[in-house]
Amino acid sequence: MPLVTTTEMFKKAYEGGYAIGAFNVNNMEIVQGITRAAKKLNAPVILQCSAGARKYASHDYLVAMVKAAAEETGLPIALHLDHGPDFETCKACIDGGFTSVMIDGSHESFEDNIALTKSVADAGRAMGVPVEAELGKVGGKEDDGPAVEGESPYTDPAEAKEFVERTGCTSLAIGVGTSHGVYTSDPHIEQSVVKAIRDAVDVPLVLHGTSGVPDEQVAEAVKNGICKVNYATELRQAYTKGFMAYMAENPACFDPKKPAKEGMREITELVKIRMTNLNSVGKAE
Ligand code: G3H
Ligand code: ZN
Repeated sequence: MPLVTTTEMFKKAYEGGYAIGAFNVNNMEIVQGITRAAKKLNAPVILQCSAGARKYASHDYLVAMVKAAAEETGLPIALHLDHGPDFETCKACIDGGFTSVMIDGSHESFEDNIALTKSVADAGRAMGVPVEAELGKVGGKEDDGPAVEGESPYTDPAEAKEFVERTGCTSLAIGVGTSHGVYTSDPHIEQSVVKAIRDAVDVPLVLHGTSGVPDEQVAEAVKNGICKVNYATELRQAYTKGFMAYMAENPACFDPKKPAKEGMREITELVKIRMTNLNSVGKAE
């Protein structure tokens, strides 16, 4: 199957009361670890890469790998740019085979975020590529830089409404208390904020910084209107755990396939748990 956009995926997810898992990739092992889980569970999936991952693996390799995964599995798979830092990067992905992009203007002022997001949303619309934007701060550090000290982590519902109307973005990442990377205190999703934003805007809502958030909180947020759920850190942890455990047991091994297989197996098991929690099992059509 060719790559699909997120448009149809999100429509079905909202109607069906489930969410799509979006998993960060930067090499073949992570792509295959994730898509093996998706295949086993017959689940739609978004594979996404940050600007850093795109630089590491290179644009053409990423597109080719994700296309190969879609062909091999026959599943609906979207290739998404995660935390696009500027217009140029987003445009290169829109023109270069990605089927969804995110422009992250959340570090800008409200008005500058609107202007930047609108420019990307216009470019995406012209090519039939959906555009995710971000309003409010997700804490921690992805490729998007640290949240501002002392600033409210929550997206304001009225601002979200105005932002979506003025930019034409097709989905929105919101600040609801989550944070990128490893949590240093107990994670807490402020469900009342999810609900209030869901009531205020009519585009799909995206949860960032989900690694380490208890599954029950995530499932509740999906019930309250989250449609796409992003995982990155815990995939890296799972891969490294499997890889290192193999090397600890087989210190003389110099065949990278062997520890890599264990890393991939850990990713597959983890992704199966997350997809089951998001209720996306059996939803690939
Ligand atoms: O954009 C990517 C995600 O928000 C991943 O966050 O590394 O905390 O899972 P995470
Ligand atoms: Zn993120």
